[in-house]
Amino acid sequence: MQGGPQLQHRAITGFNPENIPFGASQATFIAPSNTGLGFLEAVSDADILALSDPDDKDNDGISGVPNWIELANFLTPKPNAITKNGKYIGRFGRKAGAYNLFNQTVNAYNQDMGIVSAYSPNDTYSKETLDPEISNAEIADVVHYLQTLKAPIQRTVESTQVKAGKELFVKNQCGACHTPSMKTANSNIQGLNNKTFAAYTDLLMHDMGKDLDDNYTEGSAKTFEWRTTPLWGLGLAKDSQGGKVHLMHDGRAKSIEEAILLHGGEAHKSRQKYVALSSKEKQELITFLESL
Ligand code: HEC
Repeated sequence: MQGGPQLQHRAITGFNPENIPFGASQATFIAPSNTGLGFLEAVSDADILALSDPDDKDNDGISGVPNWIELANFLTPKPNAITKNGKYIGRFGRKAGAYNLFNQTVNAYNQDMGIVSAYSPNDTYSKETLDPEISNAEIADVVHYLQTLKAPIQRTVESTQVKAGKELFVKNQCGACHTPSMKTANSNIQGLNNKTFAAYTDLLMHDMGKDLDDNYTEGSAKTFEWRTTPLWGLGLAKDSQGGKVHLMHDGRAKSIEEAILLHGGEAHKSRQKYVALSSKEKQELITFLESL
């Protein structure tokens, strides 16, 4: 890849920004929400793989594949890890390119913040090997913090509108990717040990069509494939995004409805089902999504 995974093209006064090489492909990403990630980390590979249907055997137009990634040398595979040709199942990041929260944290320090560690000592831009600017213990603390940040809890579960909306969510195939319920495997963090939770993601990659193709890849992910975004906390997003939502990987959708209408590829049929709903049904579905 030309230029590295992430460059900082703006800088504070007195420092030079990093130049983006001519011809390098450029994709925009907004930061995902960071709550409940410990649950996603504690799901077994077998459960993720069970949701995948690469040849669309059930003929619903939705396949879903894991992002098979190379394991960085500082990582240890999880117990019962499933591999394919020596590659492992990625699960964090918009393209599921990071193996676990430790991997994500090390990469984010290096690529998003330009802070090198013993695990990832090379500066992305200059390629120079530098002395660690953060200790391994500090990284471990941040990982533990992310693992134990509480998941958003659905509010108004009992309202009839929300219940009707949830039924429409399933009937319109939204749940075929945004899996309504998952469970964790064994975890040495008690709160994450064998728990059922509702993140509304299958952690798989889906072809989302050409409008969402932005020429960017990680691992085995194609440029038009994206990991299903968890929908828990969606109704709280406005408050954490400055009063207005910014949805999809690059934040281009300014409302939940706009986000749904951007669904193409494997999700095209589901989008069309949404479009065909009556305005009352649309409102029920949106009210359900806002309760998450
Ligand atoms: C084929 C799989 C698939 C289906 C079916 C699907 N989605 Fe998605 N959804 C995704 C993926 C993948 C993304 C992330 C796309 C991106 O970031 O560009 C996403 C993103 C979203 C987002 C934006 C979330 C955020 O925080 O940015 C919302 C809202 C959403 N979907 C709702 C729905 C609803 C409602 C339905 C049913 C009408 C639906 N989806 C059907 C895969 C699917």
